Amino acid sequence: MNAPLPLILDCDPGVDDFVAILMILAASERFNLLGITVSGGNVPLHYTAENALKACELAGKRDVKVYAGCPGPLLRSLALEDAVHGETGLKGVILPPPAMTLQPLHAVDFLIETLMTSPQKVTLATTGPLTNIALAIVREPRILDNVEEIVTMGGSMHLGNITPAAEYNFYADPEAAHILYTCGKKITTIGLDVTHQVVTSLDWLAHLKSLENPVTQVVLTMLHAFREYDMKYFEVGGGVLHDPCVIGYLLNRSLFKGKDVHVEIDTSFSLTRGRATVDWWHKRGLHINAHVFNEVNVEGFFDLLLGLLARYGGETP
Ligand code: RIB
Ligand code: CA
Repeated sequence: MNAPLPLILDCDPGVDDFVAILMILAASERFNLLGITVSGGNVPLHYTAENALKACELAGKRDVKVYAGCPGPLLRSLALEDAVHGETGLKGVILPPPAMTLQPLHAVDFLIETLMTSPQKVTLATTGPLTNIALAIVREPRILDNVEEIVTMGGSMHLGNITPAAEYNFYADPEAAHILYTCGKKITTIGLDVTHQVVTSLDWLAHLKSLENPVTQVVLTMLHAFREYDMKYFEVGGGVLHDPCVIGYLLNRSLFKGKDVHVEIDTSFSLTRGRATVDWWHKRGLHINAHVFNEVNVEGFFDLLLGLLARYGGETP
């Protein structure tokens, strides 16, 4: 077994971010979770930060360090997704106020200090707007020398979800996404082309219900509430599990297939703001700055997710 992967998760919980956190904490032998950084996104920062704490408490992992970061994007105002995730970000459930508290350090300072001092290279997983990561890169570009991989949920080769052109995380802060895709690293990118294949079926939710542990019951309630919006607006057969795909990839890379390409982020103020143009056929001959996925083993992913959630009840499904 490989040594646990040094990991920082940057997120905006959000129902699917919440599930991604539970996946990391269930697979504690696989990850050395150095911290969770949070930004405003699906819902305002005071909710996203609290929700990250709630996920750790629900998982019984009160030692996880959570850092609040940027409340909104570099430019313009924050585009919320509370219609998708509910007013508090945890649609369908009310969890007790967390006993855990946020770390006093700002998320951007934590990112810089950790990446400048970690004895091992660190993997960054991002599941929300990229403001924290982008600001850390701008303030201290040398952090990139100690980054093993950046795995980002964002973008879409085809239709967007918050506009016809753009996926939410990149639309929420296009300038931050541009900083990421021009920083010199090859960004592992999991966009809507993949995540819209990963939808919660009633059959799978029934399997989840059969596990009957406190964690799965919360997840089950949230995922039932979460799926309504996606089924109504995106002609999919269930709730789209965007952010869990990032953790699924880190746990089993063979579940995802894609290729090295050039990606450009639209930072204009037109209808296509926030769009990630993917040069899939290398028509422009530009340098590689991303690895974009277009295929996923859906059954394999859901088997992995069920197995992780079953661990909270001491079960193996
Ligand atoms: O477009 C999907 C992304 O936007 C996910 O990360 C979801 O949590 C929302 O933040
Ligand atoms: Ca998210």
